[in-house]
Amino acid sequence: MRTPLVAGNWKMNTVPSTAAELAARIRHDSEDFNFADIAVFPPFVCIAAVRETLNGSNIEIGAQDMFWEPEGPYTGAISAGMIAESGCARVLIGHSERRTYFGETDEKVLKNTVSALSAGLKPVVCIGETLEQREAGITETILDTQIKEGIGAIKSIDAVTIAYEPVWAIGTGKTATPDQSDKAHRYIRGLIADRWGDDVSRNIRILYGGSVKPDNARTLWEREDIDGFLVGGASLKADSFRDIVNSVK
Ligand code: PGA
Repeated sequence: MRTPLVAGNWKMNTVPSTAAELAARIRHDSEDFNFADIAVFPPFVCIAAVRETLNGSNIEIGAQDMFWEPEGPYTGAISAGMIAESGCARVLIGHSERRTYFGETDEKVLKNTVSALSAGLKPVVCIGETLEQREAGITETILDTQIKEGIGAIKSIDAVTIAYEPVWAIGTGKTATPDQSDKAHRYIRGLIADRWGDDVSRNIRILYGGSVKPDNARTLWEREDIDGFLVGGASLKADSFRDIVNSVK
């Protein structure tokens, strides 16, 4: 049985004071939730405030991005070691917004994932097709490439979580239907089985992301291969985030 994971990606929202308030409300609401793992991904500058607020709770903290070099003259960059030392357990890698606006590629995803794993972080590797790619009927080819080139060279992916996030569903209010996401998740699990074997494929968590809301989470969650959610917009309100976490009960 895979424990569900519900993760809130706060993106470029909140400042340290409002991040601490949001974290406090989430902590209050989820104190007795023991059926799911919960994580929040605040902006880098809010991590310290969120860490203080969540200290001793069951909620994990993650960073939204990283750079694979351990240290050096890379102005503005943050390494996996820095993230780990700041109290984060996880890191997002290859989010579509990083791919679209900041030139993230599968090659960089691989370097970052290797570096995150060696720093003891649990990477959440994001993959997914654009609308154009879906309409061209090449969704599976895209997923195949993103898995092969993004993490295929890594021997053990036990600490990795995959987030399937169709780009056309992120922040648009258009959610993939349970059939569409289920099909993609099953396909991804098959790719994992081909490369790493059945045990790894059975155990790895594959999250769905893209306009997840309290009113669509339950029907997605009912699908066997959906192991939780990566939530953007709806994670910025403690009550909608709580309702989404509750839907995986
Ligand atoms: P959204 O974002 O829930 O606002 O669509 C999801 C994500 O980008 O992780």
